[in-house]
Amino acid sequence: MENILITGGAGFIGSHVVRLFVNKYPNYQIFNLDKLTYAGNLENLTDIEGAPNYSFLKGDIVDSDFLANIFNKHNFDAVIHLAAESHVDRSISNPLEFIKTNIVGTVELLNAARTSWGTNFEGKRFYHISTDEVYGSLGEKGLFEETTPYDPRSPYSSSKASSDHLVRAYFHTYGLPVVISNCSNNYGSHQFPEKLIPLFINNIKNNKPLPVYGKGENIRDWLWVNDHAKAIDLIFHKGKNGETYNIGGHNEWTNIALIKELCHIMDEQLSRSKGTSERLITFVKDRAGHDARYAIDASKIKDELGWIPSITFEEGLRQTVNWYLENVEWLNRVTSGDYQNYYQNQYQKR
Ligand code: NAD
Ligand code: DAU
Repeated sequence: MENILITGGAGFIGSHVVRLFVNKYPNYQIFNLDKLTYAGNLENLTDIEGAPNYSFLKGDIVDSDFLANIFNKHNFDAVIHLAAESHVDRSISNPLEFIKTNIVGTVELLNAARTSWGTNFEGKRFYHISTDEVYGSLGEKGLFEETTPYDPRSPYSSSKASSDHLVRAYFHTYGLPVVISNCSNNYGSHQFPEKLIPLFINNIKNNKPLPVYGKGENIRDWLWVNDHAKAIDLIFHKGKNGETYNIGGHNEWTNIALIKELCHIMDEQLSRSKGTSERLITFVKDRAGHDARYAIDASKIKDELGWIPSITFEEGLRQTVNWYLENVEWLNRVTSGDYQNYYQNQYQKR
């Protein structure tokens, strides 16, 4: 039996990782630690919340006493750290929250692991989940490699870059067995509708304008969230300590091309005549410091660990659209804020 702490498991990517680990590894005890910020939603995990190898721990990674308590009580063998403030636009309006959770919270977790594990790191692992945004903004050519110098440009990416450096510092300074991965933009089910794809699906469904920043020419490299979760599983089990692995879909889209594709799929799924949804496109003021292009070179994880994405973007996007259209209740509860009562009803009464 291994005790694994997954932080941020009630969020978008974290919930997919928790689900994968709970179902695939019945001999692991999975502890999901989440503060349940606006982005944390336990309704993402209703299908596995009763599993015997799953427990939920409500808490804040910035709280060192809380972390010391749970490390003492559960003797975690490993940490998979996803908890973060994750939305670039929010980091522009409120940077401090990002510094607290993404930097201070990561150091508190590193300290808790180090205190709990002492000097015997046999069978231990601290896996830090990061982003391709730490590498900055690409021009028309080139890809982010693991050796690309860091050049973060938003408060969000700067806080993630800082946390990556600190995780590496704990490897070099204290010998903590760490591994890091940096992934490109994820899409899929259960994503909070503030990020481009779920926000636009919801707006199209409700005939609301689609606010495209600037000219819509910025480029992102999209990966299906379940493929990211599979890569995390592989790196957690087979990655080497002290190493970094880039994860990406080799799937670059300008925002405007992606939005038009989304409109096309939505017209089909909602039986609207061709071109109806595109009429909702509205160009708005650009994001401050908007990074022009992200694109990942994922050859290291392919060559060393054998990982490649399992489905095409067209398949993944259709599946994603269908999920949001079939889970209107989830979407309504998230957009109305009702999902925040779930914890109260489910756990506080016990
Ligand atoms: P998300 O915002 O959907 O979820 C974050 C989760 O962390 C939420 O459940 C939230 O409640 C929890 N959390 C926030 N602050 C906390 C705190 N102080 N203590 C405990 N829990 C806290 O984020 P996501 O999109 O699922 O991203 C997860 C991780 O993956 C982040 O570290 C992010 O930087 C990274 N990442 C995301 C993407 C992407 O495209 N979404 C791509 C690459 C890397
Ligand atoms: O690259 C990985 C990163 O991808 C993750 O680390 C972040 O956590 C995640 O949020 C995501 O960051 P982006 O800023 O790329 O994602 P977002 O969905 O916010 O925006 C995608 C693109 O769409 C970006 O160029 C901005 C644009 N956009 C976004 C929104 C929300 C719009 O044009 N209009 C919008 O309303």
